[in-house]
Amino acid sequence: MPTIRVVNLKKYFGKVKAVDNISFEVKDGEFVALLGPSGCGKTTTLLMLAGIYKPTGGEIWFDDQLMNNVPPKYREIGMVFQNYALYPHMTVYENIAFPLRAKKMEENEIKKRVHDVAKKLMIENLLDRKPGQISGGQQQRVALARALIKQPKVLLFDEPLSNLDAKLRMMMRAEIKKLQEDLGITSVYVTHDQAEAMTMASRIVVFSRGKIMQYGTPDEVYRKPKNIFVATFIGNPAMNLIRNLDYIKEKGKAFLVSENLRLELPEDVAKKIEESKNSGKFILGFRPEDAKIDQKESDMGFWAYVYVLEPLGRDLIINLKVIGTEELIKIFAEDEVNIKKDEKVFVKLQHGKIHIFDSETEELII
Ligand SMILES: Nc1ncnc2c1ncn2[C@@H]1O[C@H](COP(=O)(O)OP(=O)(O)OP(=O)(O)O)[C@@H](O)[C@H]1O
Ligand SMILES: [Mg+2]
Repeated sequence: MPTIRVVNLKKYFGKVKAVDNISFEVKDGEFVALLGPSGCGKTTTLLMLAGIYKPTGGEIWFDDQLMNNVPPKYREIGMVFQNYALYPHMTVYENIAFPLRAKKMEENEIKKRVHDVAKKLMIENLLDRKPGQISGGQQQRVALARALIKQPKVLLFDEPLSNLDAKLRMMMRAEIKKLQEDLGITSVYVTHDQAEAMTMASRIVVFSRGKIMQYGTPDEVYRKPKNIFVATFIGNPAMNLIRNLDYIKEKGKAFLVSENLRLELPEDVAKKIEESKNSGKFILGFRPEDAKIDQKESDMGFWAYVYVLEPLGRDLIINLKVIGTEELIKIFAEDEVNIKKDEKVFVKLQHGKIHIFDSETEELII
């Protein structure tokens, strides 16, 4: 299976820079997700990989072959979309067989291949039905079967699960992942659902407005977000932010401060800030699981009021209002925590788990 290399790729529609100079690589057999909000250029990128859109600039390579001018049908690609685009008047069998008929393949070979792929996707019992007589999840499997039957070297997915209900979506995402791992087909999967990207992909391209914000493993984009966009886009609930902080030093100790908030920083963090090029204004970030509630004050943390509690069964999310700021934050409660609405509590941050961003560039400092 090919390695896909995208180099300085651009697609402009008049003044709209849908894809604005992006580069990334998908290794042989890898499963990569393109993740980002609506309109950020995911589909446009995928359609350029498929050969349906012609790039305004840049290069697309499959191994050492430049693909820019290779027509779609010679790219050995299978595509699966959100709307399954099945032919309603044809049976499931004929829908799956369709790409092979177009190639004028022999009838016996077609039959064998349809049954093989239908078995893999557990839809063998549906082959005689029409798309209108099967469920949405089953239609999605048929669409996947139709993409696989050509034995493609590259699979391109565009939000394939977004028409399914939540439960079916979770089931299908595990199945697609397993299938992709078994087949080892180089895959690019477009989604705006971070849970899908995190659970399925080995690496994630995080997009915003036609540009790549970060390219990394699920763990990297979660643990080491390069900027505020990635930090707040990935994670649910999102990373907490406390904005508008100044850095000061007193008696050898370092603090992030605002009018009524004062946060002592560990030495290594202070050192990183001093060594960085920065605008002098900072944003503190920490994940909901990286803070703890305490009744007494300790070194790294701040006071807050309990604003509202959100029980989730396994987890309890405590919403807090940080005293001295306008910021609302969310943290996961520890099992034994017993707190009430309006109570004043100390929020203790964990060493090594805080992030500091520059207010102006919104880039990560530490
Ligand atoms: N054919 C087109 N003509 C003009 N503008 C377009 C065209 N296709 C896309 N765009 C614009 O390019 C940008 C990127 O669109 P794209 O469809 O790639 O977004 P997306 O990330 O797939 O979004 P979504 O999650 O909503 O599907 C958008 O601003 C869109 O309006
Ligand atoms: Mg799209």
